[in-house]
Amino acid sequence: MEQIKRIGVLTSGGDAPGMNAAVRAVTRTALFNGIECIGIRRGWQGLINCDFVRLSRESVGHLLSRGGTILYTARSEEFMTESGRQKAVSTCRMLGLDGVVAIGGDGTFRGALELSRLGVPVVGVPATIDNDVGCTNYTIGFDSACNTAIECIDKLRDTMQSHERCSVVEVMGRNAGFLALYVGTAVGATAVLVPEHKLDFEKDVIGRIRASRLAGYTHFMIVVAEGAGSAMEVGEKIHEALGIRPTISVIGHIQRGGVPTGRDRETATRMGYYAVQAFAEGRGNCIIATQEGGIVEIPIEEALTMKKHLQMDRYQIMEVMQFGSKHE
Ligand code: F6P
Repeated sequence: MEQIKRIGVLTSGGDAPGMNAAVRAVTRTALFNGIECIGIRRGWQGLINCDFVRLSRESVGHLLSRGGTILYTARSEEFMTESGRQKAVSTCRMLGLDGVVAIGGDGTFRGALELSRLGVPVVGVPATIDNDVGCTNYTIGFDSACNTAIECIDKLRDTMQSHERCSVVEVMGRNAGFLALYVGTAVGATAVLVPEHKLDFEKDVIGRIRASRLAGYTHFMIVVAEGAGSAMEVGEKIHEALGIRPTISVIGHIQRGGVPTGRDRETATRMGYYAVQAFAEGRGNCIIATQEGGIVEIPIEEALTMKKHLQMDRYQIMEVMQFGSKHE
């Protein structure tokens, strides 16, 4: 790649706390390297519509602690079509963009791959509360979303404990259980349902509630990943099996908002920095990923084939925490 002069930055897909910190890092690293930075609004759709804003050191000030994304975000259907992508390429030419930093999840990176095939270099920065991007251990927003869910469930636990009730809580995560398993471990859930693990409902949910009761517990917290079913259905099944009526809570989009945690701000800052460094040093068409604590660049095509598995030992750990001894 030739020395680049101007790049675009966009956020796409579901927003995640820390996206703004990444936009700030991209902008300031670009400016430090003598590269102009243009914010593309509303994700890939903004690239199609030539919807942009100039970014300066000042305009990305006070962003570290702000949730959401100042660039707005969207899931663009039009970008999935050849003609939509051609319009996006025309915008890149019109604005003189030598590359684009795309902040988002797998869907965003599939779009990035298509754009790169049309000759626009792209660097991806993983940001999604689901943590379901295969090439990276960590995605921006995951820690904040976990903490939000944990805070909600801690509050719920107080009242469940007072009233000696059972609660079923649904958390986000799309088709993945990273959020649910992490949160379940952190709140000491009685059972956690994730899409990656086919459970025996009778044994793994009903059996665990029974065993918990026998162990002396009088309130129960069941965490369900949205990809594993709805809290409502799970609550019904518990009612049928045990005759108790659980409370149902769907935490929903609250998990996507709020002040990003230190981990998300720090990771977003490093990832944004390395995304621009890749361009500044003549590379592109890669995803910035964390692996074993360090930051690496992975070619987009390869990154999209990579899979990440749930750490199932957490199930075992939760059981040990719950019972502290073997149970039938
Ligand atoms: O990918 C992030 C996420 O919040 C998922 O956890 C959830 O399934 C989805 O987005 C919800 O998307 P929408 O914004 O379309 O409601």
